[in-house]
Amino acid sequence: MTVKLLYANNKGGTGKTSTAVQTAAALARRRLRVLVVDMDPQGNATRRLGIEWDPTDPFVGTPEVLAANQKGAGEAAVYGCGWTVSDDDSSPSPEAELIDVIASRPDLINRETETGLPGAALRLRKALTGDWIEKYDVVIIDSQPDLGHLVQMSMVAADHVLLVTDAMRDGVEGTYRVDDYVKLNAEDLGNPDLKVAGVLVNRWKPTNEAQFYLDEWLRPRFGDLIWDLKKTENRQVTTDDGTKSASVETVPSWIPDWSRFAEADGSGVSLTRWGDQRARQTVAIYDQIADRIINTLIPVGDRA
Ligand SMILES: Nc1ncnc2c1ncn2[C@@H]1O[C@H](COP(=O)(O)OP(=O)(O)O)[C@@H](O)[C@H]1O
Ligand SMILES: [Mg+2]
Repeated sequence: MTVKLLYANNKGGTGKTSTAVQTAAALARRRLRVLVVDMDPQGNATRRLGIEWDPTDPFVGTPEVLAANQKGAGEAAVYGCGWTVSDDDSSPSPEAELIDVIASRPDLINRETETGLPGAALRLRKALTGDWIEKYDVVIIDSQPDLGHLVQMSMVAADHVLLVTDAMRDGVEGTYRVDDYVKLNAEDLGNPDLKVAGVLVNRWKPTNEAQFYLDEWLRPRFGDLIWDLKKTENRQVTTDDGTKSASVETVPSWIPDWSRFAEADGSGVSLTRWGDQRARQTVAIYDQIADRIINTLIPVGDRA
């Protein structure tokens, strides 16, 4: 079975695309097959996955897939992730071999005007049906920060919503609005079981303000749905009193605000492109997210 996840927040800049793309990479590292569907006309996920718009070599993408209004229409718009082994070796990286993309362009926004056509909200769900979709373990849908037609279509198509937020007022309020919207409209969208399955806290800075929005705004509303990524390991630690076993944090609870994430996004590469200590730390965070998805959102019989 294919599990379809929608990354959402009714606030831009919280890291929806960043986490969607790097989660795809992490799932690929776990040998899962992933399809990323870019439902944002900005096309940031498309570019970050190594697919650049070239008018002399145009690609078909979400604009055509939705316009087709046909079952299985997504299959004709699938491209391989463009990540390469290195700058000198243009063969697909091991992660890229397991990641496919349905790409986006700015004119995807033109589909918004078709919202009144019969069945328009069903178009993405229809497009992502058929035998071909079954080869993917996970479909990741990246969305724009509103609650308009493109996001509604994504909600119709998805099995679960993952909210991505910073611990700041506007981002948190954005998560509330998506959660409210899903609760109020899931049934009318023909997807009554759709729910928020997780909240990823991103761009974490250990300030009193961030702690306040986490404790007073996010926790009361989302509780255990907030994915605490913390991982510890028992290690031998040397102190003045000699060597002893101690619990050491290897993954922090929340995705930190680190320039490496922005660098990876800017360059359109996986976090594994670097081989340094910081790379290992960033990769470990996303490996935790992949494991959480595998352990909680993929049905037991389907786990690799
Ligand atoms: N954890 C992080 N640390 C530092 N920069 C980040 C982090 N997450 C995202 N960013 C950067 O913040 C900006 C907005 O992220 P993006 O993924 O485009 O957000 P959204 O898709 O929600 O609009 C991008 O420049 C991205 O590289
Ligand atoms: Mg985005």
